Amino acid sequence: MTNSHGALTPRRLGIGLISAGWMGRLHSRAYLAVPDKYADLGVIPELVIVADPVKANTDAARRQFGYREATADYRDVLAHPAVQAVSICAPNYLHREFALAAAGAGKPFWIEKPMGVSAAQAADVAQVADAAGLVTAVGFTYRQAPAVEYAKKLIAEGAIGRVTNIHCKFDADYSADPRGARTWRFELAKAGAGVLGDLLSHGFDLAQYLVGSPVSAVSAMTETFVKERPEPGAGTGHGVQVSDDARLLPVENEDYAAVLARFASGVVATFESTRVGVGSRCDYGVQVHGTAGAIGWNFERLNEIAICSAPSSRDYGYARELSDHRFGDFARFQPGAGMGLSFDDLKTIEGARFIQSVTSGSQLAPSVADALATSQIAAAAQQSVKSGAWVSVPAPTGKTTFDR
Ligand SMILES: NC(=O)c1ccc[n+]([C@@H]2O[C@H](COP(=O)([O-])OP(=O)(O)OC[C@H]3O[C@@H](n4cnc5c(N)ncnc54)[C@H](O)[C@@H]3O)[C@@H](O)[C@H]2O)c1
Repeated sequence: MTNSHGALTPRRLGIGLISAGWMGRLHSRAYLAVPDKYADLGVIPELVIVADPVKANTDAARRQFGYREATADYRDVLAHPAVQAVSICAPNYLHREFALAAAGAGKPFWIEKPMGVSAAQAADVAQVADAAGLVTAVGFTYRQAPAVEYAKKLIAEGAIGRVTNIHCKFDADYSADPRGARTWRFELAKAGAGVLGDLLSHGFDLAQYLVGSPVSAVSAMTETFVKERPEPGAGTGHGVQVSDDARLLPVENEDYAAVLARFASGVVATFESTRVGVGSRCDYGVQVHGTAGAIGWNFERLNEIAICSAPSSRDYGYARELSDHRFGDFARFQPGAGMGLSFDDLKTIEGARFIQSVTSGSQLAPSVADALATSQIAAAAQQSVKSGAWVSVPAPTGKTTFDR
């Protein structure tokens, strides 16, 4: 649509947010950044209504991001006539209910990972979204890093030869303090798996995205190092308090996982993750080895890749390449190398892919099928922990995007 001066009039897209915790706030910032970084999309997201049972969170979302309305009930978001797309940023156990309701209301949604507390819940969401013909987005944020996109391109072009093996680690210290509250993340019913869902869903997606092939079988072990944590006191999300006399509650899912994996393409991999790793802040890295080189990326240095080309002599090693205009969407954020993107910027890229998916009707963002694929790997790993045997992972179904 053009205005009286012949200029393109941006289309307005009504946004509803369900859950205004850490991720809900981040989705909001991403929507607000899209018209600046992705002006060519010609879309201005309008923050219409936010739902969260904690009034302090909806008050803050209205004040900080400008949501016009607030409610405690997510159904008000889905029923709102001005809402055309929805963000679902709730704890994992609410994902299935909220996503099925969004699909029922015909609203495309951007949902956080892991998509539910089990592979069965993820399968329900994927099936219903596909049946409704909806485009979706899932918060596989790390594949949005321009350096990761560049690494994927180099790997596809054969820069490291035939990929042989991957080492992927998602080590964090966010629960390293045993006095940290036993929030929903440590409860089976509310989170499902521990690091297999919370952190390795990212790792599984990242590895599959980089090599464009699905994991086909796994063998795994898990461990819970901190067996009990204090009951949460006042506050929500990452601001939750713990009193000195709080009673201890059991930690019901794993702090640590190690997974051996085979990919359908023949690539083999090791995945490792901890959430109690003293010294590992956000040590989320992937190392892809090939017959003619290797490429490494780590979130703690998200604006660079380490690349090693085939040795022509004994004198060789990794070279560091800083992100610049050749790397994915880097140029939309910064004019030159050395001026880095942040985690929030990766979420803006994800938000732009979602918006572009909604307005074009093509699935461009990571999809519910991608999320189901990672949940099925996690479920196979859980089975392997119980049986001690290798377990096959079902072939992905639906509109996966990791293999494009
Ligand atoms: N993509 C990523 O890198 C990334 C990072 C962190 C978290 N996550 C995912 O985002 C999701 C949310 O995590 P978070 O860290 O924002 O959690 P959080 O605890 O900070 O926020 C959760 C919010 O949900 C709200 N909520 C609870 N019950 C609700 C209900 N019935 N209706 C609506 N809202 C409700 C809470 O009040 C809170 O505001 C999780 O699935 C998590 O795995 C993804």
